[in-house]
Amino acid sequence: MDTPLIETRNLKKYFKTGRGMLHAVDDVNFKIAKGETLGVVGESGCGKSTLGRVMIRLLDATEGQVLYNGQDIMKYGKSHMNSLRKDLQIIFQDPYASLNPRMSVSEIIAEPIKVCKVLTGKKEIEERVFELMKTVGLAERLVNAYPHELDGGRRQRIGVARALALNPKFIVCDEPVSALDVSIQAQILNLMMDLQEELGLTYMFITHDLSVVKHISSEIAVMYLGQCVEKAPVDELFDNPVHPYTQALLKAIPVPNLKSRNMQNILSGEVTSPIDPKPGCRFAARCPHASSECTHGELQLNEISPNHFVSCAKFGK
Ligand SMILES: Nc1ncnc2c1ncn2[C@@H]1O[C@H](COP(=O)(O)OP(=O)(O)OP(=O)(O)O)[C@@H](O)[C@H]1O
Ligand SMILES: [Mg+2]
Repeated sequence: MDTPLIETRNLKKYFKTGRGMLHAVDDVNFKIAKGETLGVVGESGCGKSTLGRVMIRLLDATEGQVLYNGQDIMKYGKSHMNSLRKDLQIIFQDPYASLNPRMSVSEIIAEPIKVCKVLTGKKEIEERVFELMKTVGLAERLVNAYPHELDGGRRQRIGVARALALNPKFIVCDEPVSALDVSIQAQILNLMMDLQEELGLTYMFITHDLSVVKHISSEIAVMYLGQCVEKAPVDELFDNPVHPYTQALLKAIPVPNLKSRNMQNILSGEVTSPIDPKPGCRFAARCPHASSECTHGELQLNEISPNHFVSCAKFGK
């Protein structure tokens, strides 16, 4: 890979809680090349959103680096970061909750343009808003509508338009279709893939839904309790899943949403607490193959075939 557009190195984000240190993101390493999509999958609470937010510095990291075009943006001061903000954007899961209900479509899309003073003339801003609405397939007549007047698909199109307003390079897509009906999900995914090609965008696409991520990703990282347990190009991951957790996730397909499917039906055992986790494999308590060797020592991602990495004491050596 040439210099990746974005890369994490030993990235960690811990939260102090009353019961101890919660390891939300714990030593995550990956690279995303320009124009590619890294799919990030895993159950609720495994740290996907925290990872996405730390990568674009909506949250500060506890430790580690995020290199953007080879530069560690964790070291950037406020003004340097402000100028970079345009390049790094996010689309949220619930378009209804993430859009201000008191703002019209044009006000929502124009907001980042005004805040970052990319354009200042009223006419120019208006033209840019119409251009963005066209790009995401929103009819001009909706320009003065409010979010509650629109269906979920159109609301998410506003979310996409707002994220595109500053001509970003990298977008964290945090479950952008999970709240939508299945038929609408496909429309939004197609829109995002078209935009990626047209605008050369790079995505990190977070989801519970492996069947969604299969279509949009070039590579997939599987997370479990703050750590990446397996990472591979998309076809390789689906054809040859090695980590027992990845295998369990794949068993949950074709049920569209892992959140709605009780993983307890597939995996027995308790989910380990992310607070002050013990050494060894965090998945061991639920793993059908676990033995004493799994519960001590630090695990590492090993490359078992080109670009296929697995962190498991029993497999992937
Ligand atoms: N501000 C915070 N303070 C304390 N703990 C937090 C905070 N934000 C997240 N966490 C914890 O960090 C862990 C990871 O949360 P995160 O929201 O990143 O998971 P997720 O994979 O995005 O889950 P979901 O699929 O439900 O969106 C969880 O245990 C969560 O409770
Ligand atoms: Mg989340």
